[in-house]
Amino acid sequence: MKFFVDTAEIDAIAELNDLGMVDGVTTNPSLILKSGRDILEVTKEICDLVDGPVSAEVVAMEADAMIAEGRKLAEIAENITVKLPLTWDGLKACKVLSGEGKMVNVTLCFSANQALLAAKAGATFISPFIGRLDDIHLDGLELIQDIRTIYDNYGFDTQILAASIRSVNHVQDCALIGADVMTAPPEVIKKLANHMLTDKGLDQFMKDWAKTGQNIL
Ligand code: E4P
Repeated sequence: MKFFVDTAEIDAIAELNDLGMVDGVTTNPSLILKSGRDILEVTKEICDLVDGPVSAEVVAMEADAMIAEGRKLAEIAENITVKLPLTWDGLKACKVLSGEGKMVNVTLCFSANQALLAAKAGATFISPFIGRLDDIHLDGLELIQDIRTIYDNYGFDTQILAASIRSVNHVQDCALIGADVMTAPPEVIKKLANHMLTDKGLDQFMKDWAKTGQNIL
């Protein structure tokens, strides 16, 4: 499973990228707001830093304007993925931009039928939002499983990009289901390394090592 980092914070991306943990980046208007940066400037910096796909989201509501914004965003760098909302206009824009050879990420997906439409419109990635479904007492992981089944049934190439990931369990469950990609905030990716038995075991090893009186260097 590929790891995308869901942020527009350059330092956080750089830290994970140095460890080889970043296969791509996703941003959205809320994350651009949080960064306090100009969208074109910060997106260019992210694209220079990361080799993989970098999603930049359009903000127009109508297909023609989405296409114009998508083309402008795609000029930033070769690894730009144009992010479009899963609306009828977004699907129209997806069809046109993917037909031009641009990578497209269709976002704000909350049903398997929406994911089916995005695949038929030529999306490179579909972004089902797990956490926001869980927030309203629906099962976000069940949606990932349903989309996996449908895409496999018909051999769609569209990659499932599990989004709105809030916990380490979401990451593990997405990997078990077979999501192609997951995008998570840097904090969640860093928490994947944590285990209380690792901490406990290390503590004991350090106490015993101190008793040996030895040094390695
Ligand atoms: C995905 O591309 C979105 O940017 C993101 O995962 C949304 O997550 P949230 O529901 O935690 O805002």
